[in-house]
Amino acid sequence: MRGDNNRPDLFEVDLEPIGRRVNLPIMATLLQAAQNAGVELSSICGGMGTCGACKVRLVKGELTPLTADEIAELSESEIQSGMRLACQAKILGSVLIDIPPESLTTPQRLQVEGREVRIDLDPVVIPVSIKLDPPSLNDLRSDLTRLLDYTSANLHRKLSVNYPVLESLSDCMRRNHWEVTLAIRDDSIVAVLPKDSELLGLAVDVGTTKLAAYLVDLKTGETLAKTGAMNPQIAFGEDVISRISYAMDNADGRKILQQKLIETLNDLLQQLTHEVGASCDQVVEAVIVGNTAMHHLLAGLSVSQLGSAPYVPAVSDAMNLPAKEIGLRVSPGSMIFLPPNIAGYVGADHVSMLIGAEAAQAKQNVQTIVSLDIGTNTEISLYHWGRHLSCSCASGPAFEGAHIRDGMRAAPGAIERVTMDGGTVHFQTIGGLPAVGICGSGILDAVAGLRTIQVIDERGVFKVDHPKINRNDGRPEFILVDASHSGSGQKIAVNRRDINEIQLAKGAIRAGLEVLLSEVGITDSDIDEFIIAGAFGTYLNLESAISIGMFPDIPRERYHQVGNAAGLGAKGMLISSRLRAKASEISKDVEYVELTTHPGFTEAYMTALAFRSD
Ligand code: FES
Repeated sequence: MRGDNNRPDLFEVDLEPIGRRVNLPIMATLLQAAQNAGVELSSICGGMGTCGACKVRLVKGELTPLTADEIAELSESEIQSGMRLACQAKILGSVLIDIPPESLTTPQRLQVEGREVRIDLDPVVIPVSIKLDPPSLNDLRSDLTRLLDYTSANLHRKLSVNYPVLESLSDCMRRNHWEVTLAIRDDSIVAVLPKDSELLGLAVDVGTTKLAAYLVDLKTGETLAKTGAMNPQIAFGEDVISRISYAMDNADGRKILQQKLIETLNDLLQQLTHEVGASCDQVVEAVIVGNTAMHHLLAGLSVSQLGSAPYVPAVSDAMNLPAKEIGLRVSPGSMIFLPPNIAGYVGADHVSMLIGAEAAQAKQNVQTIVSLDIGTNTEISLYHWGRHLSCSCASGPAFEGAHIRDGMRAAPGAIERVTMDGGTVHFQTIGGLPAVGICGSGILDAVAGLRTIQVIDERGVFKVDHPKINRNDGRPEFILVDASHSGSGQKIAVNRRDINEIQLAKGAIRAGLEVLLSEVGITDSDIDEFIIAGAFGTYLNLESAISIGMFPDIPRERYHQVGNAAGLGAKGMLISSRLRAKASEISKDVEYVELTTHPGFTEAYMTALAFRSD
């Protein structure tokens, strides 16, 4: 598979799953290939072969043999799976390379987040084109009767018309000369649109921190546009508990939180439809997923019962909500599908994630699947030979960069990757800008690095005199970037409290996992597949998470960082009745494990606090 015929000395490098191809001469490095193709591969050490950030996997073709640096940086199992360092491996012919998401810098990882997976269409809303005879002195039937007589005679269905559609029916029919497209959902007409209109759907993942919205063609299932925004409710509290308190403690608090969210969803809808030159009226169905509190606040349900034991949801079954009722400006007669919740702290977003990641059923040679979505609350699910358990652990906001002294959200200038090579600190910032703070994946790497070079002990206590250790008010801190090199003119350092935040977060996650494994009587090595979903899960460095004991030390090929699987699940449920039924099945099958009262949790948590890989 040589390059073009005029340049027989060039070979094709196919970079997947991004799908870019470039032609390069023999002995060019894979890093050069990525750079030529405009793929932003991480290269923290600048191609010296010492940071391990540029890992890629050879799928097909021939490369130069492993270098000493690659042997030092890659684990045995990585080498066996074909992993290489892009800055070291040189092409000897045409090659096909797979780039894992964690090897990309942030802007590109966001693209991966929205990657497409084929879902079989099993439409919930279908378009039907009709042409009616207009009324005359000989035919005085009402517009509604005329429409329903037609559908009953030609479609052989007894349909009803949603009230908001009825409001505009007469005008719409006349404006379109009695030739229109109906959007039919079950036995209801939810929209009447101009002839040959494309029907669109809106899928939204409402996170406590961020929103992700997708505009989908309901006929093909294709994602036409996607966008994101911060959850505007952040102004009323960073986490779920503080939002519940706001809703309880303020008159109209619940209403205000609902309105803020709907306003932003309407902005996102505008942006998305504008981007593809469509109108909001063409959006005839929505699927919105979120944790139980976000679900309730969107639907205008009470959240006070989520704030105290036994933390039960107001509603756990799937709901169909008239869009107009809550002010979402899609087509006025359309419905919003809200998938079922499992428990007060395991919501519809978790169900959607299980659907998006296909983590709720056995596959060939895969009988035990762990899947988790890391956030302020981390939901963990364990599928084992037909049994399905889930729990929620309070992992706190440290991985969002909160409660970390120099922490920040994953935004330009945030340190997102750190490696430590003895006394030298290498780091990479989002957008390659001067460092102004550190985000979740960066602090995770930094703590793992401090443990690796033995600057902190198993308990997280600073234990050695190191040239980078500074005393701040007598307390030790490790300087990552000194003031003269940072973008803010302030040093960026990690202190004992930062380490403690990571310790608490990783302790909660690991203890939750241990409890689930013990419930079915298995251990780490029995896990066939370990799925990490969500934005932070895509960015985190797996080796750092394993080295501090947050994740088990199992063969790396069992790990899958799948991006926003909750968003993918929501998109799937937009176009598939089968997946909606599956969501209800999952919510009924899952056994919810309450950690706060579980007899094994405290001990598992105390053990999991130590920085130790197993
Ligand atoms: S860029 Fe390849 S190891 Fe650092």
